[in-house]
Amino acid sequence: MLLKDKVALVTGAGSGIGREVALAFAREGACVVVADVDATGGEETVARIHAGADGGGSSPGALFVRMDVSDPADHEAAVASAVQRFGALHVACNNAGIARGSPEAAVPLAQISARDWQRVIDVNLSGTFHGLRTQIPALLAAGGGAIVNVASVLGQVGNLSLSPYVASKHGIVGLTRAAALDYAQQGVRVNAVGPGYIDTPILSAASAEARARMVAQHPMGRLGGAGEIAELVLWLCSERASFCTGGYYPADGGFLAR
Ligand SMILES: NC(=O)c1ccc[n+]([C@@H]2O[C@H](COP(=O)([O-])OP(=O)(O)OC[C@H]3O[C@@H](n4cnc5c(N)ncnc54)[C@H](O)[C@@H]3O)[C@@H](O)[C@H]2O)c1
Repeated sequence: MLLKDKVALVTGAGSGIGREVALAFAREGACVVVADVDATGGEETVARIHAGADGGGSSPGALFVRMDVSDPADHEAAVASAVQRFGALHVACNNAGIARGSPEAAVPLAQISARDWQRVIDVNLSGTFHGLRTQIPALLAAGGGAIVNVASVLGQVGNLSLSPYVASKHGIVGLTRAAALDYAQQGVRVNAVGPGYIDTPILSAASAEARARMVAQHPMGRLGGAGEIAELVLWLCSERASFCTGGYYPADGGFLAR
């Protein structure tokens, strides 16, 4: 088991990629704090871990914590819950994210409202920053650990009508590199993963034509599965990735190779 005796925290673990990461961590022996703004989804993930569904049966424990990642106090509470309930924190995945600030915000840059811009930055970029600054002291106290931030192919290239998201994901890649340098000699590794388009609820607003366009951007000719991202996150958080820090790791069906 890759995470035996470890305690892990996953944000946005009530759906999609975050849920699969939480299930993979649990399957590999970790106690998992499932954090999400959506209590229904988060409790469902915990129930699946407890039920041993999707191979999650080997985890010694799971706990749901309701949090909004844009709120620094919620990060403090989530990390405190991990330490209080399971004794320490060794692993974190900053995954929670949104595509746009409101449904009508998929528009060219000059038409994006300041409010929609701010919400995406608050959740995706500041949410990751608040996560890192709260999780790292706990990892140091535990003697070291690993953090994976979920970026995107749109952390490397642009996209039409998604400028707040693209900026937030580029920011996550930079933040990952900076954090990795600050703690490289203290046993804390920090990496980013870059999913291509993954078939999760975040794409639910996309029309059939938009989905077809997304598929066409991947040389493999399909969207990815959330479990395919979870496998990479799991590996990066395990001791098998002991010399990896500050990296951007794509899992994108060849999207960036074009
Ligand atoms: N699906 C894709 O195509 C894709 C591609 C690249 C990157 N990503 C990234 O992967 C991550 C997960 O996305 P997903 O596809 O699983 O989406 P999803 O919508 O299925 O899951 C996102 C989860 O985050 C939670 N969340 C949203 N805002 C939150 C907040 N303020 N505080 C706490 N939790 C919050 C939601 O409740 C939900 O459970 C995101 O960061 C997203 O940008 C997704």
